[in-house]
Amino acid sequence: MADVTILGIETSCDETAAAVVRLKNGKATILSETVRSQVEAHAPYGGVVPEIAARAHADIADRVVEAALSDSGLTLDEIDGVAATSGPGLIGGVMVGMMTGKAMALAADKPFIPVNHLEGHALSPRLATDCAFPYLLLLVSGGHCQFIRVRGLGDYTRLGTTIDDAAGEAFDKLAKLLALGFPGGPAVEEAAKTGDPARFKLPRPLLDRPNLDMSFAGLKTAAARIIEAETLDQQGKADLCASYQAAIADCLSAKADRALAGYDAVGAGKRLVVAGGVAANSAIRAALDGVAQAHGAVLIAPPLRHCTDNAAMIALAGAERLVAGDVPDEALGFAARPRWPLDEARALADPAYGGGKRGAKA
Ligand code: KG4
Ligand code: ZN
Repeated sequence: MADVTILGIETSCDETAAAVVRLKNGKATILSETVRSQVEAHAPYGGVVPEIAARAHADIADRVVEAALSDSGLTLDEIDGVAATSGPGLIGGVMVGMMTGKAMALAADKPFIPVNHLEGHALSPRLATDCAFPYLLLLVSGGHCQFIRVRGLGDYTRLGTTIDDAAGEAFDKLAKLLALGFPGGPAVEEAAKTGDPARFKLPRPLLDRPNLDMSFAGLKTAAARIIEAETLDQQGKADLCASYQAAIADCLSAKADRALAGYDAVGAGKRLVVAGGVAANSAIRAALDGVAQAHGAVLIAPPLRHCTDNAAMIALAGAERLVAGDVPDEALGFAARPRWPLDEARALADPAYGGGKRGAKA
């Protein structure tokens, strides 16, 4: 199958999104995409409330999907398959999107393709750019922060991971401490623009370790101590945001530098891909771009709307899976997975964090 058109659905966190993507001879074209954010519903709580998210997805999922289909100018009959995020994520929301996708696939007698949300992020640069395998991926979002060697579709090796908070979570926590609003990342980035990144000395953990693991929990604690110890005015808050963002950028780029230095060993191609919500941060992009250039590599980052959660990346992952003939048997019976690491073998053997009964998170 050299040419497939897939309807993708994304509901794993706080965006209800649907998109139609055509994959022809390895090149993706987005025929339509619709996204409805729930930011306003969660803002009063300073974070995503799973129950509110699930209800909001259930309220609008069918309309969002309908809008994406009608914008694409295609009918369900003209679609080759329906892909939906089937994990990892907030389970209530994941189930809403997955059940919507399954119902549509069943009604139209089309294949249903369960998609790993992280695979969506991992493939997201391929929506817009000629980003051939293999590449070194830095996946930085609200729930994940990992270096992954991507050799091909489904061929992912975790090279390093955060051992506590994800970088996006660290941004969100600072925004909450400073009451900057939700979501935190863009608010911290905005405040940092007028701040002095050298004003506060913040930790850069694990840089002395000869691996690609990262840690961001201590950064939040250090920021909390500063906020407790002194009353920050507007400028003080901006300085703290700038110092904090610089610390995160330093940690990510120091580890990216190490990852690229081991390039021959990891065989990841001269491509450094950054994906996930935090990849929207321009200071972090600039820092990573500098590191890539120093190694004669290129930095590839999706356009901003494809850094944060979106359905085009889910449709693309579904299309690539369908073309490869790599769709699970009995996909309609696929159970939603709250945890679903990209490199399952590594996550099971060495759960950096979030192990235990519910299974490895990363
Ligand atoms: O990929 P994403 O939309 O959802 C997850 O799968 O987690 O990432 C959301 C995360 C949030 O933590 C948000 O604060 C962060 O990405 N984020 C940013 C920026 N835009 C979004 N962090 C830093 N700077 C930004 N401009
Ligand atoms: Zn995501």
